[in-house]
Amino acid sequence: MFVDLTPFDETILGTHTPDPLRFAFPPKKHAHAATHQMPLPLEQGIAGVTTQLLSPPVQSGPRCLYIHVPFCRVRCTYCHFFQHAASRTLIDSYFAALLKELGMKAAMPWTQAQPFEAVYVGGGTPTALSAAQLQQLGQEIRRQFWLTPDCEITLEGRINGFDDNAFEHSLAGGFNRFSFGVQSFNTQVRRAAKRLDDGDTVRERIHALSARQEATIVVDLLYGLPYQTAEIFAQDVADYLQTGANGIDLYQLVVAPNTPMLRMVEQGKMPPPATTAEKASLFAQGVSLMDQHDCRRLSVNHWARDQREQSRYNRLAKHGADILPLGCGAGGSIDGVGIMQHRDLATYLDAMQTNTMPIARVVAAVEHRRVYDAIKAGLDMGVLHADTLPPWQGMSVFQYLSPLFAVWQQHGLVTLCENKLQLTLAGQFWSVTLAQACIHVLQSL
Ligand SMILES: C[S@@+](CC[C@H](N)C(=O)[O-])C[C@H]1O[C@@H](n2cnc3c(N)ncnc32)[C@H](O)[C@@H]1O
Ligand code: SF4
Repeated sequence: MFVDLTPFDETILGTHTPDPLRFAFPPKKHAHAATHQMPLPLEQGIAGVTTQLLSPPVQSGPRCLYIHVPFCRVRCTYCHFFQHAASRTLIDSYFAALLKELGMKAAMPWTQAQPFEAVYVGGGTPTALSAAQLQQLGQEIRRQFWLTPDCEITLEGRINGFDDNAFEHSLAGGFNRFSFGVQSFNTQVRRAAKRLDDGDTVRERIHALSARQEATIVVDLLYGLPYQTAEIFAQDVADYLQTGANGIDLYQLVVAPNTPMLRMVEQGKMPPPATTAEKASLFAQGVSLMDQHDCRRLSVNHWARDQREQSRYNRLAKHGADILPLGCGAGGSIDGVGIMQHRDLATYLDAMQTNTMPIARVVAAVEHRRVYDAIKAGLDMGVLHADTLPPWQGMSVFQYLSPLFAVWQQHGLVTLCENKLQLTLAGQFWSVTLAQACIHVLQSL
């Protein structure tokens, strides 16, 4: 059985254009491919998650912890992750509540049944915690949760305020990977984005931390920010290489509605961010620079300089591993059931005070989620192998979708061998759109 492509337009099929890298699809709206998930009535959802956590896992598979720290000193102009302005008092009361949640979740039978392979403390800006809190958080994670011996324990954050004392306390707590949002090393680009430090400060600090070789250091760069020309982006990548950091993420700027940047552009206070076509050119430039410097590709937008960087959490999360969420605004999923914790700080703190699950939303597991996860993971790696896709109602999903793949091949997005779909450079740029298109086609089956 093969998909009938008649009902689908160019948002699924792509456009036949001499320049698919820049013009194959309308602009990308999301950073990740989403599946349509059905929210459950909240009480029923919370009861279901509680039951899951009070029993050993139904299936054993890889699992991760995600812990969210929802504070930032300042809101960056482009960011849609910002939740709360940091203040010492707020952070201290949050930290106490977070430790309480850690204790509550760590004691549950589901949690105790199997070791976690990766822990990610993300934000917001987890490096806004004090040095002592960072050490305590790491120690509590390792004391209360069963972790694999080589568990990757990442602290996300920024260079601003993260001094040697904070780094040493984090290491003492057991963090072994640090992911720093840099976005750009160029001071003009950084100032316009409301980043706090100048480029030299950030570059020197990343260099100093990497030179210590005591943990994996990873840098996030954005491309497409206002003032970030192709020359500046090339210099950003060169600066990353010069810092000696172990890995890099190159993310295209996604401009969500209501971000401060859009208002500032409308008011004429800064030039607009790059168009999708311009971002596609920057992506191609980034890929080429990574190739020239023999960086190892871990996914369409992530590279490692050496064996130290594994990016295990990101890989497992993309492959549909269970993720136990902790903290205000954290998201996760268990057996495909999506869990979103309260984003509102007062509501989260209140839930912790009353010993209730701080859950705001639960979505039902999607049928065939293993197929969707395999598609998302494969396309994120730049290659989809037929034998990694679980069967769907007894048929091969790869074969079913092959007419779609053939159209994409004509459009310059993929090369199709018998059992393998390899993304071209253009396909890599549009990988999220391609994953969404596959899922859309399968869901309309
Ligand atoms: C949630 S942030 C946390 C990092 C840290 N707070 C910082 O500012 O450096 C993680 C990463 O998301 C990326 N990010 C934030 N806003 C983005 C946007 N509008 N489009 C694409 N990526 C974005 C940035 O590269 C950032 O480093
Ligand atoms: S980029 Fe980081 S520091 Fe800036 S607002 Fe977003 S989460 Fe906060």
